[in-house]
Amino acid sequence: MRMAKKTLMRRLVMSQSLLRQGRHSELSVLVSVDGDVSPNDFLFDQSLLAIQNARETNLEDLTSRNKHLPDAVYYDIFPGEHYRLLHALARNLGKRNIVEIGTYTGMGSASLEHGMPESCKLTTFDIIPWGEFRTHLDERSFAEGRVVQFLEDISDPKMFDKHLDLLNRSEIIFCDAPKDGVFEPKFLSNLTRIKPTSSCLLILDDIRLLNMVGVWRAIRSPKLDMTSFEHWSGTGLVDVSNGFQFEG
Ligand SMILES: C[S@@+](CC[C@H](N)C(=O)[O-])C[C@H]1O[C@@H](n2cnc3c(N)ncnc32)[C@H](O)[C@@H]1O
Repeated sequence: MRMAKKTLMRRLVMSQSLLRQGRHSELSVLVSVDGDVSPNDFLFDQSLLAIQNARETNLEDLTSRNKHLPDAVYYDIFPGEHYRLLHALARNLGKRNIVEIGTYTGMGSASLEHGMPESCKLTTFDIIPWGEFRTHLDERSFAEGRVVQFLEDISDPKMFDKHLDLLNRSEIIFCDAPKDGVFEPKFLSNLTRIKPTSSCLLILDDIRLLNMVGVWRAIRSPKLDMTSFEHWSGTGLVDVSNGFQFEG
């Protein structure tokens, strides 16, 4: 019954010719934001700076290095895709550690790695090894220790605790995992255990997807919906410098 309703709604939406022109479309809901948690100065300042940087810096290096891969065309779609913004945020905020959840073909990892300073290390989590995809990642980054991958599910509280110290020493946590309605609420509940630090930004991908609208709403830390300047399916920035509040 639920499936039939969803199919009916999709047909209704797709009957609008303008929507059929997009490469990919998703059903979602709009929710007014009064009553939700507001952004703070850190989020406004970092967003404005990153938007300006992303306008001025392209990722042609990454596109040409990976031109044999069909998804390489997305690096420089700005706004609309998040790669230039990830690159700018890694450059502006990365110092010691950046954590990514969801490596996949490594486009996010490559953008973060390209932006982050020499002092910084990228730790990326997945449950499938990076080498099993048509990857944008380079073996050298792993050999030099600049990028590390863990094949562990950190929505599991025991796994999360194993990596809590790393998360406490990170300036960016980029969560781009399955958005299956299960992983993100569990991971974000675990994340309420991180300690206050001098500055840490949580970047949450796909916050406008139906499975993610409630997850985004349940965040009670200062936050900013940056969708117009990052990923078309929704990108949220959360200031977790003073710890993380989640009522999921
Ligand atoms: C949307 S993709 C990530 C895209 C990538 N960050 C990028 O920017 O190109 C989602 C990834 O999450 C991974 N994933 C699924 N369940 C996971 C879990 N429990 N822990 C970590 N990663 C998971 C999937 O294997 C997939 O590679």
